[in-house]
Amino acid sequence: MNETIELLLKHRSIRSFTDRQIPQEQVDLLIRAGQHAATSNFFQQYSIIDVTEPAKKQELAKIGNQPYIAEAARLFVMVADMHRNAVIAEEKGEAPDVLGSTDFFLRAFSDTALAAQNMVIAAESLGLGTVYLGSILNDAEAVIDLLKLPKYTFPVFGIAIGYPNQSPQLKPRLPKNAVYHENEYQPLIHPVEKLKVYDHNVHQYYDLRNANRRVDTFTNQIAKAVSGKQSENKKKMLDTLKSQGLLQY
Ligand SMILES: Cc1cc2nc3c(=O)[nH]c(=O)nc-3n(C[C@H](O)[C@H](O)[C@H](O)COP(=O)(O)O)c2cc1C
Repeated sequence: MNETIELLLKHRSIRSFTDRQIPQEQVDLLIRAGQHAATSNFFQQYSIIDVTEPAKKQELAKIGNQPYIAEAARLFVMVADMHRNAVIAEEKGEAPDVLGSTDFFLRAFSDTALAAQNMVIAAESLGLGTVYLGSILNDAEAVIDLLKLPKYTFPVFGIAIGYPNQSPQLKPRLPKNAVYHENEYQPLIHPVEKLKVYDHNVHQYYDLRNANRRVDTFTNQIAKAVSGKQSENKKKMLDTLKSQGLLQY
């Protein structure tokens, strides 16, 4: 065990922040750490939008339906971004034909996630708390309008970062044998039975987190989540991606 791995093993999302601001040098370090993540083919196909305008933060909090989005000292929207490379190609007299492909979208998406995770780890190493915000995709079109995202870009998620105002328990993870496979995929047979102990641990975690809330097991949560109805906005996500010039083929 070393300090880096210890840091990784004590990750938990933070959803309540103090008013304390993050020194700008530290924010700059987070961006640098993000930029040094590995990047598919060295294309660096992401952008980091630092949302500092309070009205815009409020709007994103409204879209995400989570007030703490606006309360964090810093709010970044991580954007899969092939626009920059499209313009570079055009300036060099080349048509950016492949940027609408699934292949390029997946590369931009993974670049964005890797940069984000580097930022999160760097932030945690500085004693900051973070939470990813997939909830901004409750209305991807509204985010695209709000942040003026051009063709060949898509908001992947937000990250709220600030000084923690809470100290939540670590959220238990699946046992190793549920996620680890050697050489070939080995399906977990009767997972509900095999995950009984894990279900118990997750139930206990939620109970400790909020004793007044009705809590569920992991397997119940999953079963409900995958059978749940999607909002109209979520259903039109593919259309939104396509209208950004992405996932054309
Ligand atoms: C892509 C992504 C999107 C997420 N979106 C949200 C979100 O919108 N709101 C939220 O409170 N947590 C969000 N989370 C945090 C997860 O709920 C959290 O990581 C998970 O429950 C495990 O808990 P832990 O991070 O405390 O270990 C998101 C995490 C990821 C990776």
